[in-house]
Amino acid sequence: MNINDRIENYLLKRKEAHLFRQLSVNQMLIDFSSNDYLGLSKSAYIKQQVDIEYNILKTTKSGATGSRLLNGNSSLFEDLEQLLADTHHAEAALLFNSGFDANVGLISTVARPNDVIFYDELVHASIHQGMQLSDAKLVAFAHNDMIDLEEKLKLKAVGQIGFIITESLFSMEGDQPDLQKLADLASNYEVELIIDEAHATGLFGRKGAGLCNVAAIETKCFARVYTFGKAIGSHGAVVVCSQKLKQYLINFSKPFIYSTALETHNLLSVKHSYFYLQSTINQQIKLNNLIFYFKNKFHSLKTKFSLIGDGPIFGILVSGNESCRKIAKHLQENGLDIRPIVAPTVPKGTERLRIILHSYNSKEEIDLLCNLLTDYQ
Ligand SMILES: Cc1ncc(COP(=O)(O)O)c(C=O)c1O
Repeated sequence: MNINDRIENYLLKRKEAHLFRQLSVNQMLIDFSSNDYLGLSKSAYIKQQVDIEYNILKTTKSGATGSRLLNGNSSLFEDLEQLLADTHHAEAALLFNSGFDANVGLISTVARPNDVIFYDELVHASIHQGMQLSDAKLVAFAHNDMIDLEEKLKLKAVGQIGFIITESLFSMEGDQPDLQKLADLASNYEVELIIDEAHATGLFGRKGAGLCNVAAIETKCFARVYTFGKAIGSHGAVVVCSQKLKQYLINFSKPFIYSTALETHNLLSVKHSYFYLQSTINQQIKLNNLIFYFKNKFHSLKTKFSLIGDGPIFGILVSGNESCRKIAKHLQENGLDIRPIVAPTVPKGTERLRIILHSYNSKEEIDLLCNLLTDYQ
């Protein structure tokens, strides 16, 4: 078999399993799907602030033109890292080109072959990728189950270096772990705690500092990851940690060392989104009101579906890939951008319609969604 036959074969199998992925250009549907929770990617105010600063920086090149270890670095990176370290209450911060890069770059570099990683069974693909590359021993614990985690932690050998890795807001389930318990367990069993705050960045805590801030465990974490592609409305990510870990990553983390750094507009967008979050919580308030409205409305509906998640990420459970796709299609045909999340992305039997609420959704849009759901009683 040659390479083309093999590729053909894989694609065919995907199609036969009804799991073939395809790119599509977004229709102008009502947004119940993007990660732009606070609408910052569309903010005219932030865009204006970015443009003003960009024009002042007349001599600055738009692309970084290299890795930060070569000629890509500038005071824009250093200043933004200081802002991020301050906002997220950490000693240091190191920018990465995406959340995926940050997880891979952090985890694959800090965990080594004789270490052990205890990870939530539902963590994101980027965490899996980082763990695979680390060659550490991997032990999954049941989703958000602190009793199971503690049982697994007892398996750690004396003197072995260990990590707990999880997320503060799960991207598919929309739920949160008990962060204080996680910090206690990490301390009791002498393992390092790494929290991916991708979906909590900008949404929760003081000035959008995240859920570790709300749970007052920031200083108990070994490292935390915040991403800018979701509520921050831009792109990129940051690992916040100790100065020593930052130096270690600069020296050993391949996605950091061997990649062209973020470009100027990107840095300015992130900076002005964070400034915006320092100045107001209006968008978070609007979003919270809509979350409250949606939950009440959904629970008053006559529908056979159940709702998971506590907002702004929800799942409406529709068992079976085909039914889930069919209902999503019906909602899309009625103007709603709602995506089916099917097995194996989620465990079989827990297929769902993923509903993301945004500060810019309206009660009328939520009413339309709920009315359409009553077609299925
Ligand atoms: C929990 C989590 N971590 C990391 C990432 C990757 O972030 P990025 O999109 O910035 O690469 C995602 C993206 O969906 C995510 O959900």
